[in-house]
Amino acid sequence: MLTSDMFSLQLRDFEEVRARIAPHIKHTPLLTSRQLSERTGFEVRLKAEMFQRVGSYKIRGPLNKFALMPEEQKKRGVVCSSAGNHAQGMALAAKIHGMRAVVCMAENATPAKIAATRGYGAEVVLHGTIWDEANEKAKELVRDEGLTYVHPFDDEQLIAGQGTLGLELVQDWPEMDAVIVPIGGGGLISGVSMAVKSFNPKIRVIGVESSDGPAMQKSIESGRLETIDCRTIIDGLRVRRAGEINFSVVQRFVDEIVSLPDREIFDAMIWIMERCKLVVEGAAAAPVAALLNGIVKLPEGSRVAVVLSGGNVNLDQLRGLTWN
Ligand SMILES: Cc1ncc(COP(=O)(O)O)c(C=O)c1O
Repeated sequence: MLTSDMFSLQLRDFEEVRARIAPHIKHTPLLTSRQLSERTGFEVRLKAEMFQRVGSYKIRGPLNKFALMPEEQKKRGVVCSSAGNHAQGMALAAKIHGMRAVVCMAENATPAKIAATRGYGAEVVLHGTIWDEANEKAKELVRDEGLTYVHPFDDEQLIAGQGTLGLELVQDWPEMDAVIVPIGGGGLISGVSMAVKSFNPKIRVIGVESSDGPAMQKSIESGRLETIDCRTIIDGLRVRRAGEINFSVVQRFVDEIVSLPDREIFDAMIWIMERCKLVVEGAAAAPVAALLNGIVKLPEGSRVAVVLSGGNVNLDQLRGLTWN
């Protein structure tokens, strides 16, 4: 059996996973960006994953996991705790597979997110006021109702699904020199880095975190998983501790992690709306922020793919900006 230390997937593994989930997902476009290219001196292309079903890459992993799940487990259903994209991805994937899905959220979760998750067919259980308490409820449902817990990032089948985004990248732009990917718990970059590196080990994989909560960067620096004091308010990037499998994959396949404050990431979100006419959420704006702030160092003219991982913007965060 593979231990997490050895977990590694090749391009053909991702091709297999993609064939499995292809009927239910979109192959999202890779857009050119004159604005970002001129600004940075690189040739920049944007992986427009906010056009994915559920508005982010988060449906890819659960679709793979559920396709591989034993029937008897599928009959009992699945549970997760999330107020964000994982909830919606899991809810729609479970619906596609005809399974029961329960999502535990804190009682103060945004009503729009509760409605969206219910809209995809999941049962929403409200419990506690923070994620940890909602997560306790999810664990209780595993014990009491035999539901299978679906972790948002620390899961091999989930990582394999998320990595199909990397496969699409190398198919659409085999000449690329680098890819920039946002990091929360590390699920997305785990899959993307393995896909890209197994295609061409010379492609540089760069992760981006908020410096208000750089859980993975701190762990890589110290050589072991660190639990940090996380202050970022960007929900896709907000974890106190990265995943174990994710940490091991990032150690082996990611070349560099850069970080910058929430403020600069939010500025990049607005910049993308204004200049590229695209709506992306904070987590997805992080790689663009890294480019705009000059913290990605590559030779001039490098071909750089940027993963715009989702577009589920909390519109409350935009209110208060001046309209005219
Ligand atoms: C839009 C978006 N981008 C990036 C991330 C970070 O992904 P991961 O936790 O797999 O590192 C998330 C996580 O929720 C997300 O929702």
